[in-house]
Amino acid sequence: MPPNLQAYRGSLLHFLADPAFSSDAHVYHADGLLIVADGKVQAAGDYASLHATLPIGTPVHDYRGKLLMPGFIDTHVHYPQTDMIASPADGLLPWLETYTFPTERQFEDPAHAGQVAEFFLDELLRCGTTTAMVYCTVHPQSVDAFFSASEQRGLRMVAGKVLMDRNCPEFLRDTAEGGARDTEALIQRWHKRGRALYAITPRFAPTSTDAQLHLAGELARAYPDTFIQTHVSENKAECAWVHELFPQARSYIDVYDSVGLLRPRSMYGHCIWLDETDRARMAASGAAAAICPTSNLFLGSGLFDFAAADRAGMALSLASDVGGGSSFSMLQTMNEAYKVARLKGSYLPALRMFYLATLGAARSMQLEGVIGNFAAGAEADFIVLDPAATPLLARRNRAWQESGASLEELLFALALLGDDRAVAATYAAGQPVYQRAAR
Ligand code: GUN
Ligand code: ZN
Repeated sequence: MPPNLQAYRGSLLHFLADPAFSSDAHVYHADGLLIVADGKVQAAGDYASLHATLPIGTPVHDYRGKLLMPGFIDTHVHYPQTDMIASPADGLLPWLETYTFPTERQFEDPAHAGQVAEFFLDELLRCGTTTAMVYCTVHPQSVDAFFSASEQRGLRMVAGKVLMDRNCPEFLRDTAEGGARDTEALIQRWHKRGRALYAITPRFAPTSTDAQLHLAGELARAYPDTFIQTHVSENKAECAWVHELFPQARSYIDVYDSVGLLRPRSMYGHCIWLDETDRARMAASGAAAAICPTSNLFLGSGLFDFAAADRAGMALSLASDVGGGSSFSMLQTMNEAYKVARLKGSYLPALRMFYLATLGAARSMQLEGVIGNFAAGAEADFIVLDPAATPLLARRNRAWQESGASLEELLFALALLGDDRAVAATYAAGQPVYQRAAR
């Protein structure tokens, strides 16, 4: 059977390395061609040199004037919190009590879970996010609902059942043994089924007993290619609470480390109030940080220290953390990340932010070669960004449209001024999964 070949012409951008540490980290073709065969990248390069290699009759989709790049990867997001986005509260802990727990209670009902999962995935794709690391609720059926919906759309998604056996309402509580049993059954049902990948998901240290954290660590050892996701050092009151609950631990991250939850494929949300020892330990263990700027500003949690993380050599990625986060858009996430960096005295170039939202995330998840760039053989998850999506973007990006000037400025304008409106189309495994309505 000849492969199902499709080609896409437009300006092409992807990354081979981190622009913070390499001077030729990105690949850009002003007039580029992306060739997709059977849902995978076959080639990405200059139109002039590649189009002659196409068999006669290969469809060439014309996206000239637009930017083709790998789909965004959001490394920390709560699908059950979709309906409570933008709920105001006086900090993390009251926000959890007032809004989060009652909202998550509804996911006991599989029909509700399925309906929210569909809306959530629609919203991710509208924003150009093709992969996410997703928290479900304590209910195993919330995981089934999520993966069923993402499987139907052919998406590469990572998700898991929240583990929570104390310090939460009875209606959301599992037990150490029950939570581990459910997690193992879900791993067997979903991990590596199609594009689904499982994440062992203790919510955060305060809502798990020692026994539950130990069992999570055992599962992480028994299934070394699964993911781990949790929250760490997000908020000062939370950190003080962890210190009270785990007086023997050297630090918050040490609570997880001591049970074997720091390893490659572990993703730690927030990482704001870490010290140098914590950062060094994260880097050495292969654990990664999911930086959640819209959430950290919205809940008043604090400012992520990019310079300290880079000094330590931590693996970094960007995340929305909806519903703590206030936007599904990774462009808006970059907008806030940029400002957080400025307030901490750092500077985040746009190229770095686009790297963090694509290849940087894939590397943090040990999925380089699978998603995150246009390497030959990678899954063809890509987006079409429109530099003229709004009147203001069109005006700001005139120079790029007319003369191809400054890629950095184009990306910066897209990050600061763009959102879902800037995404003209989204493809997953070579299939169109979102097309912006004609305007
Ligand atoms: N810490 C524990 N649970 C949560 C949550 O749902 N959102 C955020 N932002 N932090 C948390
Ligand atoms: Zn979160």
